[in-house]
Amino acid sequence: MQIILLGLPGAGKGTQAKVLAERHGLLHISTGDMFRQAAAEGTDLGRRAQEFMSRGELVPDEVTIAMLLERIARPDAAAGIMLDGFPRTIRQAEALDRALGERGAQIDVVLYMQVPEALLMQRLTGRWSCPSCGAIYHELTNPPKRSRVCDRCGAALMQREDDRPETVQARLDTNRAWTEALAAYYGKQGKLREVDGTGEPGKVTARLEGALRGAGSGARGVR
Ligand code: AP5
Ligand code: MG
Ligand code: ZN
Repeated sequence: MQIILLGLPGAGKGTQAKVLAERHGLLHISTGDMFRQAAAEGTDLGRRAQEFMSRGELVPDEVTIAMLLERIARPDAAAGIMLDGFPRTIRQAEALDRALGERGAQIDVVLYMQVPEALLMQRLTGRWSCPSCGAIYHELTNPPKRSRVCDRCGAALMQREDDRPETVQARLDTNRAWTEALAAYYGKQGKLREVDGTGEPGKVTARLEGALRGAGSGARGVR
């Protein structure tokens, strides 16, 4: 199974991808996490990506597509993938379709997580994440048991540099039109499922599971 989680910054893609990928035996691939990892390692790719990320802009397609295609060609992706944050442009979507098609595979379903923009700002400016295991928290809605310490691995939590309010606004401005364009692209292919991304994370997971079960049945919205 090849699944895409589509949604604006802060929609909950990373939070939900971790749960769903584990349950369904899929490889969770976040291009944002890959770029942050490369930046932390100080590679050329990381330095290049960092420039765009810190301005809230998209990393250029050539760089992003090459990185993603290389990742999904590795053996651990063969059992299925859950894409989080890719594709973000139509060129990326087309490159992905082509690459999967060449090996007789395809995207099965695109889960479009919808959350009002006013909520996204609150979610992102209160986010804390674990640099070691990737766990995601929120200081109000999903706080760790000990302040700023990861429940799962004990590492000190960090805030993302691009979660400052002005950068969040730039990210929303960058992604709004592209997200709609991608929804239309996959809608035409009959693969889009719109899912309400508000409410308790567990409830959102249940709605996403419902949309996955209904994939192919033609039901478009899961509320
Ligand atoms: P990326 O890391 O993908 O960031 P993003 O798309 O902006 O999305 P986020 O990771 O911020 O949000 P999320 O939807 O994962 O939400 P989360 O689960 O963490 O990309 C970063 C940058 O990399 C981009 O800006 C771009 O520069 C570059 N990039 C990446 N991919 C690219 C591509 N394909 N092409 C070009 N450039 C690319 O949740 C957010 C917060 O909300 C957390 O605090 C969480 O605890 C909380 N939360 C989650 N669910 C709920 C809920 N149901 N109720 C209450 N709170 C919740
Ligand atoms: Mg994320
Ligand atoms: Zn951790």
